[in-house]
Amino acid sequence: MKPETDSDNNDAGKSETPLLEVIDLKTWFPIKRGLFSLTAGHVRAVDGVSFVIRRNETLGLVGESGCGKTTLGRTLLGLERATGGDILFDGISIPGMNRRQMNRLRRHMQVVFQDPLSSLNPRMNVMDIVTEGLAQFGMVEGSKQDHAAQLLGEVGMGRDAIYRWPHEFSGGQRQRISIARALSLKPDLIICDEAVSALDVSVQAQVINLLLQLQKDYRLSYLFISHDVSVVSNVADRVAVMYLGEIVEIGNTVDIVGNPLHPYTRMLIAAVPVAGGKRISEHVVRGETPSPASPPEGCRFHPRCPDVMTSCRKIPPTVTEKEGHQVMCHLYRRT
Ligand SMILES: Nc1ncnc2c1ncn2[C@@H]1O[C@H](COP(=O)(O)OP(=O)(O)OP(=O)(O)O)[C@@H](O)[C@H]1O
Ligand SMILES: [Mg+2]
Repeated sequence: MKPETDSDNNDAGKSETPLLEVIDLKTWFPIKRGLFSLTAGHVRAVDGVSFVIRRNETLGLVGESGCGKTTLGRTLLGLERATGGDILFDGISIPGMNRRQMNRLRRHMQVVFQDPLSSLNPRMNVMDIVTEGLAQFGMVEGSKQDHAAQLLGEVGMGRDAIYRWPHEFSGGQRQRISIARALSLKPDLIICDEAVSALDVSVQAQVINLLLQLQKDYRLSYLFISHDVSVVSNVADRVAVMYLGEIVEIGNTVDIVGNPLHPYTRMLIAAVPVAGGKRISEHVVRGETPSPASPPEGCRFHPRCPDVMTSCRKIPPTVTEKEGHQVMCHLYRRT
């Protein structure tokens, strides 16, 4: 997908460097076979993805399981090596950074995972968990207890939590602890990877409200990853729709949800239960996602597409600007 420029969607932000700019990013995993572990091919988990995230903005990233959302997030965090493309954080290229620069960047980019129990060290109490980053960066001035209590206060938890252990909390509370830990270094961007997916609906809403409040208070940006379109539509300013390693549509949330253009986006939105509402009936979810190790020729979505045309089977679509969306589909190609 072609790079989206900062001026595309936000006139006010014209002069501002986007906080994050991702340009034609690729993350491929080698498939090793045989006695000598020869590379027999690649899983193209992220395959030419471009987008921007501005300051104080939430970009939602949706798509079915296995489409590459987590790999994309991990690549942005430097936990996976990019195979190609570039990631600019505040205008500076991340793949070109050395380890020291990368460590410094970690302060500015944090992550909240789906399963806080496995991402919170069970052998550390809450005080040590939420102040671990501060300690690493030598930023604990004064009492660690006070730092921890202040961070827990930010996420609606009391001081009494500081000497307790992760297993003593509910899923929602553990997620609040993860958020407090992410906040400790005053990041600019938090990547939330299915951060509310394991929670009950009411707890989900509380955690989402907390994230939105913290965004206001600290001018945070979020990359909010979820397979659930309805959750994303409650949180995100813009939405990117990912299919088999590519972003097939991106635009403002109201436009994407209210007027999805790509047949895959329509399929995802049609799958959201609507109480008494109308569905786009010809776009019900159908078929299985093909393997990212051997994506279909032409448009990757063509074997599942209700609108498939001859060209879709042979020619990969390029990005078209249509009604404020950027969409990668032959239906909208410029003539
Ligand atoms: N370390 C790895 N080595 C090889 N293949 C990998 C690795 N990590 C991910 N993959 C593959 O990359 C593809 C994308 O995986 P990823 O976890 O990014 O998807 P996802 O969109 O986050 O899915 P989910 O919604 O289930 O979390 C999958 O086919 C997965 O099997
Ligand atoms: Mg994932």
